[in-house]
Amino acid sequence: MLKDRIEAAAEFIRTRTPLRPEIALVLGSGLGPLAEAVEGVTIPFAEIPHFPVSTAPGHEGRLILGRLFGREVAVMQGRVHLYEGYTPQEVVFPTRVLAALGAGTVVFTNAAGGMNPEYRTGDLVVIEDHLSLAVASGLDPLRGLNDPAMGERFVSMNRAYDPELAALAATLGGLRRGTYAHVVGPSFEPPALIRLLRLAGCDLVGMSTVPEVIAARHLGMRVLAVSAVTNIAVASVADDHVTNEAEVWEAAKSIRPRLVALLERLIPALPKG
Ligand code: 6GU
Repeated sequence: MLKDRIEAAAEFIRTRTPLRPEIALVLGSGLGPLAEAVEGVTIPFAEIPHFPVSTAPGHEGRLILGRLFGREVAVMQGRVHLYEGYTPQEVVFPTRVLAALGAGTVVFTNAAGGMNPEYRTGDLVVIEDHLSLAVASGLDPLRGLNDPAMGERFVSMNRAYDPELAALAATLGGLRRGTYAHVVGPSFEPPALIRLLRLAGCDLVGMSTVPEVIAARHLGMRVLAVSAVTNIAVASVADDHVTNEAEVWEAAKSIRPRLVALLERLIPALPKG
């Protein structure tokens, strides 16, 4: 049973620390070193029963439970993605464990390509909506039997990104808001797909976050998601730019201080409960 596997993972974590996190933070590509600010206990994903292990570059694959800017948090240093070959259900298992540990609020971060012409590499953007052709056509983590003890069969995605938390982050960090297009990857989008996603009103594109947001909403968690724009997505074959991992990595590294500055103001201001 899914619930038993979640509980086994949560129980294992509880044996390692008396800390009961109220906030979960998921750190995306190149953003993991932010966890250095956390004082607490580190557990490699590989030690946690049933936990998927990150194979992605720049995803350390550790869970850190401790205090961050005055609050008790659980920080995922790295995550797993659909492009690694994990099923949508495997991808969201850690999110479900974070909820079982007591986290009522989850903050997701990711590295994303900018599609909105106003965005620049280095921008932080608060996600307010998403578009996932993959989820819409079968890769929904909630597909299959629903356990009513976990959540409802049909989960609304309107306001999945908590408007109050989004406004708080946007105000504290002076950030814009955008719609995140989710693709499975690992190939980057061809220019034609970038044009399609832009036409559909999307501002950012990336390979993560959306399955986890769906699972978090199923469990009733409050969700905030922030993208770091690590590169500008190529929308025409006339452009000779070739998106690559090194560029994403370098940009993520240079964005870290701004994300730390945001979290330093945001985490203490997150509503209790
Ligand atoms: Cl351009 N695309 C995707 N899918 N993920 C990204 C990205 C682009 N830049 C950073 N992550």
